[in-house]
Amino acid sequence: MTDSSTNNASKTPTDTGSPSRRQFLATTASAASVAAAATSLGIGQVAHAAENGTLKIGLVGCGGRGSGAALQATLADPNVKLVSVGDAFKDQAERFAAGARKNGTVDRWGKPIRDKVDLPAERVFVGFDAYKHVVDSCDVVVFATSPHFRPLMIEYAVKQGKHMFAEKPVATDVPHLKRVKAACDEAEKKGLAVVSGLCYRYERAKQELMKRIHDGMIGDIVGLHCYYMTGTLWHRGTRAEHPEWSEMEYQMRNWLYFNWLSGDHIVEQHIHSLDKMAWVLKDQTPEYVQSTGGRIHRTDEKFGDIYDHFCNHFMYEDGLEMHSHCRQMKDCAYRVSDHVIGTKGTADIMRHYLRDHEGDIIWRHRRPRGRNVVEDNMYQNEHDDLFASIRKGEPINNGKYMVNSTMLAIMARNSAYTGKKITWDQAWDSTENLAPAKYEWGDLPRRPVPVPGKTAIA
Ligand SMILES: NC(=O)c1ccc[n+]([C@@H]2O[C@H](COP(=O)([O-])OP(=O)(O)OC[C@H]3O[C@@H](n4cnc5c(N)ncnc54)[C@H](O)[C@@H]3O)[C@@H](O)[C@H]2O)c1
Repeated sequence: MTDSSTNNASKTPTDTGSPSRRQFLATTASAASVAAAATSLGIGQVAHAAENGTLKIGLVGCGGRGSGAALQATLADPNVKLVSVGDAFKDQAERFAAGARKNGTVDRWGKPIRDKVDLPAERVFVGFDAYKHVVDSCDVVVFATSPHFRPLMIEYAVKQGKHMFAEKPVATDVPHLKRVKAACDEAEKKGLAVVSGLCYRYERAKQELMKRIHDGMIGDIVGLHCYYMTGTLWHRGTRAEHPEWSEMEYQMRNWLYFNWLSGDHIVEQHIHSLDKMAWVLKDQTPEYVQSTGGRIHRTDEKFGDIYDHFCNHFMYEDGLEMHSHCRQMKDCAYRVSDHVIGTKGTADIMRHYLRDHEGDIIWRHRRPRGRNVVEDNMYQNEHDDLFASIRKGEPINNGKYMVNSTMLAIMARNSAYTGKKITWDQAWDSTENLAPAKYEWGDLPRRPVPVPGKTAIA
């Protein structure tokens, strides 16, 4: 896992009470609603759902997040089956499949996960093309590989008419982001669900807070600032420690440290902060960004070509400014927080409260208590909402904001790398394509660490 907030794989909903809305939707999905869905959903899924109601789930990317997300997908609906998985690496795919087959976690309908898993060896796919086999064999696909591969996979899933959950970010460069944008537009037309892994948007407490901000409780927004200052993340070993790895394998195993794979930590991790700020602004786009950044701690070549800190200044219409900072450094102060300043007060997004300018709290989210209260687990909520939307025939499509928020991060990264101010329109003009010439195991050139004022980006 790469985010500090994601120790979610073992979490399960605690709802043991009366039938939930989801349960109601799932068990009462009437012929009428399925027929209505047929006009908007991919024909394949509707035909299948109409036959026996079971939605088949596939997972691509069997690492930390994928393991959690696949579990959450199987917990989200009573009538789903995890039928296929894929990973670039055999060890990853097989480890996940073995665990899933014996997972005894019980869903809220009293069924153990292992009874919702049907993963024979022939549906455990390995290699760069594994995703195609997974997509072809399921109705709803979960994408949780390193970010670089998301555009190809999203495109293919839409082409094949499949619903999806797509982890964030959804691209690491602009040409690929454009492909995601086009695919999401197509998904909208085909009535396919596209739920984004920008998970904070699914936390009920934040939804409540955001509603009040949007209702004007702190007045007009005049400024925003956000922070993702954390420690270091995993490193899975050097080439000297793993002489059996080719350079491609080395980079893919250690994808965090290679811009083409992760987009750098500003795109991979700080995107959460930028997305929360975008949500506050109802996805208004900035006029420009001016950023700085570099690497001070992670200078060893094992840390590839990414930076370890960024500082960004986004300028919006009417002089509205947003400052954002992110840092991944050992032994430094931790801070993950987002703040909004309004004409009548301020908001603390992570702590879910609003204050007036005297400092008095004017609204605070209080977590509901009681035996039948469903835990507000944003990772579970995403899947609950995804499956409920499919059952209801009103598929969610988060395409627009997942593309825009990915762009906020990419444009800030490119501004820091080049040392140049970048407008929103200029950002979309970038033709820099970070993909390697071929997806195959073998040699791969290393890119130099960008130097502001010297590095140019097409
Ligand atoms: N929403 C969140 O809070 C959150 C938290 C953690 C991670 N993530 C995101 O989830 C994604 C995965 O992160 P992770 O921590 O699970 O990483 P991970 O390295 O643990 O897992 C990634 C998996 O994808 C596989 N993979 C890579 N390229 C592939 C390809 N072309 N085809 C098939 N499989 C491939 C890898 O072998 C690995 O098993 C990233 O995009 C990350 O940003 C999101």
